[in-house]
Amino acid sequence: MRIIKVDAIESTNTFLRNLYREERLDMPVCISAKEQTYGRGQMGTTWISEGGKNLTFSVFMPINGLALADQFQISMTVATALIRGLQFLQIPRLAIKWPNDILSDKYKICGILIENIVKNGSLEGVVIGIGLNVNQLNFEGLEQASSLKKLTGVHYDLDEILGILLQKIEEYFCQLATRSYPTLKKEYESYLFRKNKPSTFKNIEGDSFVGIIDSVTPEGKLRVLLEDEVFKDFDLKEIKLLY
Ligand code: BTN
Repeated sequence: MRIIKVDAIESTNTFLRNLYREERLDMPVCISAKEQTYGRGQMGTTWISEGGKNLTFSVFMPINGLALADQFQISMTVATALIRGLQFLQIPRLAIKWPNDILSDKYKICGILIENIVKNGSLEGVVIGIGLNVNQLNFEGLEQASSLKKLTGVHYDLDEILGILLQKIEEYFCQLATRSYPTLKKEYESYLFRKNKPSTFKNIEGDSFVGIIDSVTPEGKLRVLLEDEVFKDFDLKEIKLLY
């Protein structure tokens, strides 16, 4: 994979989207930045990361023959690949908080922002942005955040971790065409945070309710068993898992 390393950039995701527009990429490309001046998170949020201490990188992956309707498979692929890479580093108690936050216990250590590149209604590629907290120790005001070093006490080499994660991502993407959807879903769901446990959620109106996470649907919705024994599928904007 072509790897570009820079000291500072606005956002590695934005960089790759622009590069695709200019060069029509057809091979995987990664850009990793020591610092982002405008790192972007899910749903229009900002991704804040202490410069030089963490990994902030994006990978462009060409996509062949995956329908837009099946795009959640990409999310599942990336999240499970990262879990596998972090397991290799012996990071404890890993879980995926739907749809694709990576946690250790209840602490978020990694965020993923996947952006589709669509042309004439078909998916040509994806830009996968990954922010992994590695050696940062102070997360003032972010009680739910942690880092690898905070969890294990080990100081990590950022390049080494990047290499391990890129290898896993490539491996899992190679399998995307050959692995069956049920196998991928089974692996993803095996890491799902609070699966089969009664949990508290907040709905779009701000009201709390209790439910049990059952599974994910092919469109990437979260299927929750509600108190009246009825299953309901929620999308990201409709629900927030509190605990
Ligand atoms: C989230 O909100 O959890 C997703 C965060 C994704 C952050 C990464 S850092 C590298 C890449 N570039 C960006 O601007 N965002 C992603």
